[in-house]
Amino acid sequence: MSSTNDKPWLLILGANSDMAIACAKRYAKEGFNIYLASRNQTECKKTAVDLRIRYSTEILSLTFDATDFSSHESFYANLPAKPKGVIVAFGMMHEQLESQQSFKLTQNMIEVNYAGAVSILEIIAADFEQRLFGFIVGISSVAGDRGRQSNYLYGSTKAALTAYLAGLRHRLIFSDVSVLTVKPGFVATKMTAGLDLPMKLTAQPEQVAETIFDAVKKRKATVYVKPIWRLIMLIIIHLPNFVFHKSKL
Ligand SMILES: NC(=O)c1ccc[n+]([C@@H]2O[C@H](COP(=O)([O-])OP(=O)(O)OC[C@H]3O[C@@H](n4cnc5c(N)ncnc54)[C@H](OP(=O)(O)O)[C@@H]3O)[C@@H](O)[C@H]2O)c1
Repeated sequence: MSSTNDKPWLLILGANSDMAIACAKRYAKEGFNIYLASRNQTECKKTAVDLRIRYSTEILSLTFDATDFSSHESFYANLPAKPKGVIVAFGMMHEQLESQQSFKLTQNMIEVNYAGAVSILEIIAADFEQRLFGFIVGISSVAGDRGRQSNYLYGSTKAALTAYLAGLRHRLIFSDVSVLTVKPGFVATKMTAGLDLPMKLTAQPEQVAETIFDAVKKRKATVYVKPIWRLIMLIIIHLPNFVFHKSKL
């Protein structure tokens, strides 16, 4: 199947994420065709129908599992048209205490948040590097900025993702491909639905999408969605251990 228009394509991986859906809307509004890639095709197809009607653009729903590493090469090779950009939105956060007690949960976070992202992005990066353009967006987390007792198992997978994206950015600068690391802070989504989040520190998915759209245009390296998070994390990172270790952070 080939495109019926000559608009650029955006590939969104983990397309049922609330942030991903907001990004799909933002980019569709801006004249992109969108690949919505997700494990859950029932949900994804519903989103695709909705976006097609709203934005009169091409929206294609595709099956993608971040942990099915051996499928990633053919997934990318079989895209009808190569995308101009990609957003990695998939992610998994299991509860810290449960993850301490079950390596299976921790392993799942490592495989989705880090290994899955590396597996698919190395394939995409090689293509973008060769054609000398494109943008890559990875949604990481402030949880990766410093390991804390309350969520270091999830946080360490995001720290690994952040370091990976930094290295990828350095590599691809020479090919004019931009790599953006997004640190959203708290966001009101399915992932945080049961948590009691402070309103002032919590962004909406639409704000994340707007921040990503703007940061990609400006070819930024790293962006905190709510700027206050940069300050909060700066303080947390620099707390000396004799203070940090007494806290319940
Ligand atoms: N919400 C927050 O406060 C917050 C803060 C910082 C960072 N983040 C990060 O932001 C990103 C988006 O999260 P969100 O808050 O929008 O959460 P969400 O709505 O729960 O979305 C996460 C998505 O990841 C997908 N996913 C999980 N395992 C997958 C796999 N093996 N293969 C493909 N997709 C998989 C899920 O797909 P299914 O629909 O198939 O289950 C789900 O749609 C994540 O990387 C998350 O870690 C979130």
